[in-house]
Amino acid sequence: MLLLLLLSMSLLVARAVQQEELLYPPQYTGQRIVGGEDAPEGMAPYQISLQGANSGQHSCGGAIIDEHWILTAAHCIHGKAPNAFRVLTGTQDLQQNVSKYYYPDRIIEHCAYEPRKYRNDIALLHLNESIAFDNATQPVELSHEPLVPGDWLLLTGWGTLSLGGEVPAKLQRLEVEYVPFEQCREAHGNSSHVDIGHVCTYNDKGRGACHGDSGGPLVHNGKLVALVNWGMPCAKGKPDASASIAYYHDFIRTHLSLHESEAAAAGEEQPVWRSKSHCN
Ligand SMILES: *[C@@H]1O[C@H](CO)[C@@H](O)[C@H](O)[C@H]1NC(C)=O
Ligand SMILES: *[C@@H]1O[C@H](CO)[C@@H](O)[C@H](O)[C@H]1NC(C)=O
Ligand SMILES: *[C@@H]1O[C@H](CO)[C@@H](O)[C@H](O)[C@H]1NC(C)=O
Ligand SMILES: *[C@@H]1O[C@H](CO)[C@@H](O)[C@H](O)[C@H]1NC(C)=O
Repeated sequence: MLLLLLLSMSLLVARAVQQEELLYPPQYTGQRIVGGEDAPEGMAPYQISLQGANSGQHSCGGAIIDEHWILTAAHCIHGKAPNAFRVLTGTQDLQQNVSKYYYPDRIIEHCAYEPRKYRNDIALLHLNESIAFDNATQPVELSHEPLVPGDWLLLTGWGTLSLGGEVPAKLQRLEVEYVPFEQCREAHGNSSHVDIGHVCTYNDKGRGACHGDSGGPLVHNGKLVALVNWGMPCAKGKPDASASIAYYHDFIRTHLSLHESEAAAAGEEQPVWRSKSHCN
């Protein structure tokens, strides 16, 4: 409450904004695509739907990065155990029932993720079974290239089509333009919620991410560059912010190899995973 109040006061001082334009802390909302279109068949085979294990409800997006690992946003899994989730792969249609579910046995949330600070909003999910790849189910390569003004990224997700709207069955796609850090921060009233770990993107007012696209992939030249974090709900003409894969490259690589060595050390024993990640 206090945060929202301070936030709204500082924004009101910066300029007269509508209440609906306030930043939404990611824990109160996800992000979903507004103004996109159905993804053509075969597009984004790395896209997953993160769902409640019991409810089967779509909650967030994510990306397959290898046969055991999914990347998503930390706010999608924060405070929950691995068995709260299931991961749907290999489909663009949430209602299609021939697709495959996998189950996380470990969640690695970025150790410096702070729900109210909008930073380090990235997490790894390890699956208890290896993903069977086929033409509709593929990992995506991680990008290390810096983006430049004028780059367009492919955003995919099953987010609501409008604020408060329905979750579409068909995967949506939208091209969004990269917005450099300084420009993005300024568009958000110089808010420190935009930091160098973010990739910002923009389309027209009326197009962008919305509730349920959180954690979902942004791809450039076929490589994963970012995961949807937060924005002004929804598609109100401000850049959306996503976690930069290049910036979090070390986090990803370190935990993948740490996991491997811990699994090897545990041998035949069922390893007991730490639930939180460690920064040092
Ligand atoms: C995958 O391959 C099968 C048969 O090889 C084909 O029927 C199907 O349309 C393909 N799916 C995609 C998403 O390309
Ligand atoms: C998939 O859906 C069809 C039609 O709704 C149904 O007949 C079939 O039993 C379902 N299969 C599974 C595995 O749920
Ligand atoms: C993975 O986890 C799910 C859900 O707990 C379980 O049903 C399944 O048997 C597990 N698979 C393996 C290979 O352990
Ligand atoms: C943000 O900072 C820039 C550079 O310091 C300044 O020119 C601009 O007026 C500021 N914008 C807002 C909305 O405070």
